[in-house]
Amino acid sequence: MAKPVVYVLNGPNLNLLGTREPEIYGTTTLDDIAGMLEDRAQELGCEIEMRQSNHEGHLIDWLHEAQAEGARAVLLNAGAYTHTSIALHDAIKAIRTPVIEVHLSEPKEREAFRHISYVGLAASDCVSGHGAQSYIIALEKAMNP
Ligand code: DQA
Repeated sequence: MAKPVVYVLNGPNLNLLGTREPEIYGTTTLDDIAGMLEDRAQELGCEIEMRQSNHEGHLIDWLHEAQAEGARAVLLNAGAYTHTSIALHDAIKAIRTPVIEVHLSEPKEREAFRHISYVGLAASDCVSGHGAQSYIIALEKAMNP
């Protein structure tokens, strides 16, 4: 039987992880995170579909695709769109696939404009503040809800 697939969707500026504000986000690159997720996925018996885009519409299309493809769950680090995008909020509400919000940093302890999360208002869970490890914790939650 095919293994369950977990989509891992990454939004704007996350392609620059490793060099982007390392004092906040650390020095782990998105490729490093993909590798960590692959290793953990193998142990958990699932597959990872890892994507990154700087464009809001791509993230929305991929949320729809995750449902159409029968994904087990979506881990979504929407970057700054977290705090601005009603369209992403609506896309999460529009699908039945569980979506777990992910952040490397702890947005609620940062600038006030990061305190609202339109993603969080629709997502089923949130993991934040653990650096790259946030993704691994979220994957474990996705596989053992
Ligand atoms: C982030 C937090 C957001 O506030 C920020 O805009 C990002 C990264 C995080 O992973 O900590 O781009 O989602």
